[in-house]
Parts: sequence; structure tokens; C-alpha cells
Amino acid sequence: MGKDVIVALDFENKEKTLAFLDRFTGEKPFVKIGLELFCAEGPDIVREIRRRGHRIFLDVKLHDIPNTVRGAMAALSRLDIDMVNLHAGGTKAMMEAALEGLTRPDGSRPLLIAVTQLTSTSQERMERDLLIEKPMEQVVLHYARCARKAGLDGVVCSPLEAGKVHEACGAGFVTVTPGVRFAGSEVGDQVRVTTPARARELGSDYIVVGRPITRSEDPVTAYRRCAADFIDR
Ligand code: C5P
Repeated sequence: MGKDVIVALDFENKEKTLAFLDRFTGEKPFVKIGLELFCAEGPDIVREIRRRGHRIFLDVKLHDIPNTVRGAMAALSRLDIDMVNLHAGGTKAMMEAALEGLTRPDGSRPLLIAVTQLTSTSQERMERDLLIEKPMEQVVLHYARCARKAGLDGVVCSPLEAGKVHEACGAGFVTVTPGVRFAGSEVGDQVRVTTPARARELGSDYIVVGRPITRSEDPVTAYRRCAADFIDR
């Protein structure tokens, strides 16, 4: 599994997104299109960014009955994307249906990644609102094993959990990890953060980096710094 930096394109519209991408004249970063941009612009923004030569992680976090998710994934499989995700909380049956829907007639498909528990869900909220009373780490690892059994390729998790996920699900099971910050920089709303270099040591396969790059005065330099620190050269 090749390690890479994925830039989170958390912009409200196409104009702002393309203006940001225009700054990259040398390299073509792997990018993440999230719900904000996808809901604003629809599948056309995915096609446009693909035409520009970027690899794409479509972060739509699907969660519905298996039949509906199978159909939605079949629709997304017609986009030229590299990675897409869903919520493991939809159960193994939903994940299996998603995988079926995502597989193209020629047998190819994007990587399918599961969200375990959102990083915005605390232990307290999980117990109070979801009635899940096990420790968070146990829940995350259980969801990861369930995703593995369903045939998925990996999970979104904290870099701090990447090693344990690999122990439980194998070295080839992909870990995609947000919550990355440069040492001494602003944390924003992320709670548990690590640097790109530390994320590499902890075994992350892909780091998802938003604001440290998108809000930087010099995004290209920030991206290069991230890539140099994270990717083993
Ligand atoms: O700006 P920042 O680097 O915090 O962006 C992180 C990106 O990763 C955002 O797009 C956020 O939605 C996403 N993400 C996250 N935590 C998760 C799943 C996704 O921060 N558990």
C-alpha cells in the first residue's frame, strides 16, 4: 500500500475549489471531496477534478438499508474515483451490499473504506445517545473487524489507532487517518492530533489533511512539507 497525503477539499463551491487546485502547477495531490462540496455541486465536480488528473476519495459516508446503499454505490461506481466510504454502523449486511454495488461489470472498483465511530462522538455521547457502553477502542476495533469480514479494504480512524487496526485486521487493511497537524500549529476542532511524521511512525497508510494546507498562505509549500514528512522517500 503506497502511503500518500490526501488533501481535504472542504470548500463551499466549485469556484473556490478550482481556484485552490489551480495553485498546484507541479504536482497533482490526491484529494478528498466531502459532503459539503458534493451536495453543492453534485457528480460534475468529481468529473471536473478527475479530468484535471487528481486521484479522488469521495467522502460521502453512506448509511442506509442495504438495498439503497447497493444502488447508491452502483451509481458512484460510474464515477472515476479511487476511494469511497460508508458507516460501519450500517452493519455487515449493508457493507456487503455496498461492495456488490460498487463493483463494476469488469470487476474493478474503488477502495471501500468504513467509518467506525466519528471522531466527534465521545465515549460519553456514545453511551448516552447510542447506548453503546463498551470502551471506544474496543468499539472501533470491533467495527474494523466487521468491515474486514464484509470484504472492505480499510477504515477511517485516528493515527493513534492505526497500529491496533493493523494488528487486528492485517497489515494490508488500509488506515485512512484525519487529525493531522504540524507541530506547534493551530488544532481547530480536532481533539487528538498527530504530526505527519508521527502518523507515519504509527503506521497510517493515508493521512487526510485539510486546514493545515487549505488555510495556509502557501498551500503548495504546506502540502510539500506534509508529503516530505509523511511519505517514506
Ligand atoms: O481541516 P482538517 O485537517 O481537520 O480536516 C480533516 C478532514 O477529515 C475533514 O474533511 C473532516 O471532515 C475529515 N474527517 C475527520 N475525522 C473523521 C472523519 C473525517 O476529521 N473521523
